[in-house]
Amino acid sequence: MHDSTVRPNKKTPQQQSRRTFLTRWLQWGTALAATVFLYPLLRFVGHRIPPKPRLVEVPTPLPLSGAHAGQDFFLFAGTDRLSAVSRVCTHLGCRLNFQEDKQIIECPCHQSRFTPDGMRISGPAQKNLPQYEVTVKEDGEGKVTAYVVHL
Ligand code: FES
Repeated sequence: MHDSTVRPNKKTPQQQSRRTFLTRWLQWGTALAATVFLYPLLRFVGHRIPPKPRLVEVPTPLPLSGAHAGQDFFLFAGTDRLSAVSRVCTHLGCRLNFQEDKQIIECPCHQSRFTPDGMRISGPAQKNLPQYEVTVKEDGEGKVTAYVVHL
């Protein structure tokens, strides 16, 4: 006897289509779940803790102009001013010079100019110079012994 209507191992085209549909849904769902869960993990792994500021101590007395040219910064500590700015040009990174007679910071490479506060005056540089925090160290009598620049 041969029963042609019962085919236990063969799937009908409708059953195969349903199986394909469910398999695709499962694949897409797995991909979506992996994205949802992996994205925060990858963000966490890629997270960087900002480095601690480098502290540079400049002992007093400063020159009469009140300007000190460090390796990476200018410190201006006059009677009416206390500031520090980067010594790296924001155009292409040349080391800047302070023109004491003109009271400007000038780049020797392409002549960008900045104020002692780091504001751009002219030249190809488009950004102001980064400013740094400065703290004052005093002795027990209130006399300034050093300036600390937070790079
Ligand atoms: S690098 Fe300073 S102006 Fe170009």
